[in-house]
Amino acid sequence: MQTRTVAVANEKGGVGKTVTVINLGAALSVLKQKVLIVDMDPQANATKGLGVEVPEGAPTVYDLLGPEATAGAGEAIVRTRWSGLDLLPSHVDLSGAEVELTEVEGRENRLKEALAEIPGEYDFILLDTPPSLSLLTVNVFAYARHVLVPCQTHPYAFAALEELFDTIAAVKEAINPGISILGIVPTFYDSRTRVSQRIMEQLQTDDRYRSLLFKTAVRANTTIAESAEVARPVVFYRKGSFGTADYNQLAAEVMERCGVSV
Ligand SMILES: Nc1ncnc2c1ncn2[C@@H]1O[C@H](COP(=O)(O)OP(=O)(O)O)[C@@H](O)[C@H]1O
Ligand SMILES: [Mg+2]
Repeated sequence: MQTRTVAVANEKGGVGKTVTVINLGAALSVLKQKVLIVDMDPQANATKGLGVEVPEGAPTVYDLLGPEATAGAGEAIVRTRWSGLDLLPSHVDLSGAEVELTEVEGRENRLKEALAEIPGEYDFILLDTPPSLSLLTVNVFAYARHVLVPCQTHPYAFAALEELFDTIAAVKEAINPGISILGIVPTFYDSRTRVSQRIMEQLQTDDRYRSLLFKTAVRANTTIAESAEVARPVVFYRKGSFGTADYNQLAAEVMERCGVSV
């Protein structure tokens, strides 16, 4: 079985990366895909958002990366409450990994090496990233084949996209020639506001971004924020919500772009 590896990235915070990882993962699992979410943000929002509490001392992604890896990926993976949706949890200690790895040779490839031992049972591995271009994000880009970019329909969106595209081009050249951008998904879309309309129009007409745009836009939807508070994917929390409809549609598009039949 071929495993599709998808990094969800944007160096800007609050654009819907974590919500997209959780809900795309949940929607893919509903479509009978076996999904592993790898939480590479020291803030551990994806871990918390899936209702996973890591017991004191249990291995997390941090233990796979340190100068002396103390656990294997297989040991650190946990099941969530939903079948077909597993998690490699994060830990706040991950914020120190950057410094600890500075002197380590091949530090960009630590994650890639650690995840090489993951059993080939997953259809999709989705990776959440921190809101900065850190060594952690570089480790994700060194490993992933695809990058999915949530783009908030907000005036600053374009500066963030440009930066991210430059970063990915640099990674492609120096570290991972196989990486490419799977697509851009507009988030917090609200057709009633001018700013949302304007950013959407710009995305649809800009030669750099037009062909990458998903048909799905994730609408601004309070149910999504609510579901995050109760630590459940919106897809399971409110089946009839806009959030569920949007992420189901995005999951189908992602499968299509990855060449998996729906
Ligand atoms: N489509 C949406 N509609 C409403 N709220 C959203 C939506 N997507 C995300 N949120 C909320 O916005 C905040 C930031 O989202 P998050 O996914 O954590 O962003 P990031 O991971 O990029 O920092 C969270 O509180 C989340 O619940
Ligand atoms: Mg996040």
